[in-house]
Amino acid sequence: MLRIVTSLIAALLWGLWPPPAHASADLRVRELRCEYRTKPLGVDVREPRLSWKLSSSVRGQRQTAYRILVADNPAALDDERGTLWDSGKVASDQTIHVVYGGTPLKSGARCWWKVRAWDAHGEPSPWSAPASWSMGLIGPADWQAAWIAHARDAQINEAGPLPATMLRREFSVTAPIEQARVYVSGLGLYELHLNGHRVGDALLTPEFTSYDRRILYQCYDVTELLATGVNAVAAILGDGWHGEYFFGMPLRQHQRPFGGRRGFIMRLDIELADGTRQTVVTNGDWKATRNGPIRAASLYDGEQYDGRLAMPGWTAADFDDRLWQPVAVAEYLAGANLVWQRHEPIRVTQEWQPISLAQPTPGMHVFDLGQNLVGRCRIKVRGLAGTKVRLRHAERLNEDGTIYTANLRGATQTDTFIKGTNEEEVYEPRFTYHGFRYVEVTGEEHKPWLYMPAYQPRQDDLVGLVARSAAPEVSEFECSDERINHLMKMISWTQRGNMHSIPTDCPQRDERAGWMGDIQAYSQTAMFHMDMAAFLAKWLQDVRDSQMPDGRYPNFAPMDHARWKGGTPAWADAGVIVPWRVYQNYGDQRLLEEHYDSARRWIDFVHAKNPNLLWERDLGNKFNDWLNGDTLEKENWPDSGAEVPPQVLATAFFAHSTEIAAKMAAVLGHDQDAETYRQRFAEISVAFNDAYVSEDGTIRGDTQAGYALALRFNLLPAEIRPLAAQHMVRQFERYDGHMSTGIQTSHRLMLELTRNGYHDHAHRLLQLKTVPSWGFMAEQGATTVWERWDGYVPGRGFQSPRMNSFNHWALGSVGEWVWRHVVGLNPDEAQPSYKHFVIEPRPGGGLTWARGSYDSVRGRIESHWRIEGNRFRLRVSVPPNATATVSLPSEDAHSVTVDGKAIADCPNVKPAPDREDRSAYAVQSGTYEFACPWAGPRKVE
Ligand code: BGC
Repeated sequence: MLRIVTSLIAALLWGLWPPPAHASADLRVRELRCEYRTKPLGVDVREPRLSWKLSSSVRGQRQTAYRILVADNPAALDDERGTLWDSGKVASDQTIHVVYGGTPLKSGARCWWKVRAWDAHGEPSPWSAPASWSMGLIGPADWQAAWIAHARDAQINEAGPLPATMLRREFSVTAPIEQARVYVSGLGLYELHLNGHRVGDALLTPEFTSYDRRILYQCYDVTELLATGVNAVAAILGDGWHGEYFFGMPLRQHQRPFGGRRGFIMRLDIELADGTRQTVVTNGDWKATRNGPIRAASLYDGEQYDGRLAMPGWTAADFDDRLWQPVAVAEYLAGANLVWQRHEPIRVTQEWQPISLAQPTPGMHVFDLGQNLVGRCRIKVRGLAGTKVRLRHAERLNEDGTIYTANLRGATQTDTFIKGTNEEEVYEPRFTYHGFRYVEVTGEEHKPWLYMPAYQPRQDDLVGLVARSAAPEVSEFECSDERINHLMKMISWTQRGNMHSIPTDCPQRDERAGWMGDIQAYSQTAMFHMDMAAFLAKWLQDVRDSQMPDGRYPNFAPMDHARWKGGTPAWADAGVIVPWRVYQNYGDQRLLEEHYDSARRWIDFVHAKNPNLLWERDLGNKFNDWLNGDTLEKENWPDSGAEVPPQVLATAFFAHSTEIAAKMAAVLGHDQDAETYRQRFAEISVAFNDAYVSEDGTIRGDTQAGYALALRFNLLPAEIRPLAAQHMVRQFERYDGHMSTGIQTSHRLMLELTRNGYHDHAHRLLQLKTVPSWGFMAEQGATTVWERWDGYVPGRGFQSPRMNSFNHWALGSVGEWVWRHVVGLNPDEAQPSYKHFVIEPRPGGGLTWARGSYDSVRGRIESHWRIEGNRFRLRVSVPPNATATVSLPSEDAHSVTVDGKAIADCPNVKPAPDREDRSAYAVQSGTYEFACPWAGPRKVE
């Protein structure tokens, strides 16, 4: 009231009426995104969703309303005219996924937008900086372009390795250019060039999908690359996932929906300054050749490049292409479904210098990058034209210092480069990626008629290029224990190494498949580390595309069902668990809507096959708790008894997925389904207990894994839980204090140890340095997480090369435990997307401090605790418009202070109404410094 009176008086005094909108001095709207992406081009979602973040230096800050303007030109936006949409002032605290509600958007439409928000007191923020997006080609008819290829590309399943296809044409632009955008795709992989410049920095496009269902296209702004006069557009086609052998798809006919046949499609829209438009499309006017320098390229095997065949200037105008052939129109691709690539493209995200260069045998040079990474190399090569260099990539060395490649199985990971000139040349392969720490470089002596000495590399000739699907990294972690810091670095690097269009199991051997069980276990860790929303939304479409008509999910996606049964417990369940986690972390309800029916069909399939509610039939490929303790080769280690009985694991996942389906149904308002599945979850739990759980809390098999699953999925009655937890801990004795768990249960065991009062046991497992433990991997110099607990053991050597990756994220799922309990950050299921969250760090394991920051969809969250003498201090940041429950490790609520004062003195902090346990507080947005007495870690109950 006072505020209104004051502004009225002020307005009268200054002779102004009505008073001007008074911008909040504090609230700011920033980081505008459309469909999770910053200024995306080519969006094919008809009603895209808009999101922003808020910043404020004031505690308890909230958004009470917003207004969005969308205009078809930036000037209109400056004048506050939403020519496409003016949402008006909407009373709402929504800052994510606001659905565009303006004039229907046509293909190619350009949209500029800005937002202002009203704060807790009803004061408006300034307008945000403007952002933009552009629409893609929404319907197939909008392309008005033909798929083209080299005439030989039309052959079905042509025997490889095949040289790259090169395509080009020239065209004239008659007037100055206002702006130009190109829409483009190709099969297997394409790279686009305009007037001698590569277009964009995306690698390995279009990425991996079930190509018969959808092929991704890209859109680029190419205004700067065009000029009036003669222009040239050119493309190279390689093979990639579509065109070569891919793991799990052994039959060539089944392997590639289009028989591995290449094609290229493009539409270039140019707006000229005189107001006219010009369009250049792929059609019969293009020319093609397969006589260029890329003689072969394979994701698994690397690239063969012969620089003597290079055609300088072929991507620019005035190139003599008279010897090239007219293109063929690729009719076989005519019906292809082209959709926008919604997730971040694969690109080079880091450059990495080698730490040493050794010569284990004369003429063989081995670079050590000091880090197991994924991407490829750029190398400077000296020597006369014809000088040949071979780069072989490996994760480990043999004892004699040569590279160890047996674990790559059929993947040779070898790039070969032949110099085309006598100058120093720089080579970087295109249509491939490798998993490696070591690069063996061999220069070959060449003596056709003149002796040429072999190339001798120098350490600074080579640089490692880290390439991955470029989902943003959103967190930082550090604590007082270097071992945990190292483990978290290993986990981060492993994640960087396994995001190549799909979440892969490994990046080096002839596999690299979207194994569902691995991402299912790892998904929450993945989301703590990167913004996975767009990447996983794309992959969940791949999962739906590979679902069988009977509801069975695949084991990996994309997948061809010709060879694999699919429907494996814990693997297929990723189809339910991963979308739910995406919803938890990013609040993506539209994804749930798109996915719900698919998830429902899966759990109904399992139910139909197992009407007695124990999942004992149709257990898919029986991977069970893969790589559990029974698979270890270690002296005095029990060789059986660690593996959870398959029906126990399967039924636990059946229950868990059913419970999640009930929650999804509730969010989506399918009340009847929600009730049915809730009920079914309860019944499966009863059946599980009746069949597998004894009164004393033992679970059939008496395995650590079985207890971890039953506890984690809340299958046990309250009185049985502590008993089961005791049995879980008792089982360490049999394994000399170690875990005996595999990829589905190791992190779940850690989480349940802490949840059931055995936090120090969890810390102890983290501190072990013997097999099986994370510490053992680190002791062996691991810089990424291994597939197997005993991938390499000194004295014994490497595990079976048939399956021994050193870059596998599944066992890295322990990162979730570090985030939840060391940093203490926990999303709240009831208020997803960090609208509310819990900060509950649990000191232990001798740690004296830890800090983590996480950039949520609502802004930055921080938790930084340290023990200073007999005080425990915790600094917490909660983003505007969000709230948190902060729980301190003290039973003595009266001694807790915030900013050095009593809790009662801080209006933004109140005792948490729903918590009885410890000193827990409901905290509004802002940064706070809590402190409480510290008398050492709590005893294990
Ligand atoms: C993969 C695993 C995967 C498993 C299925 C392996 O080859 O690398 O990580 O989940 O197969 O059991």
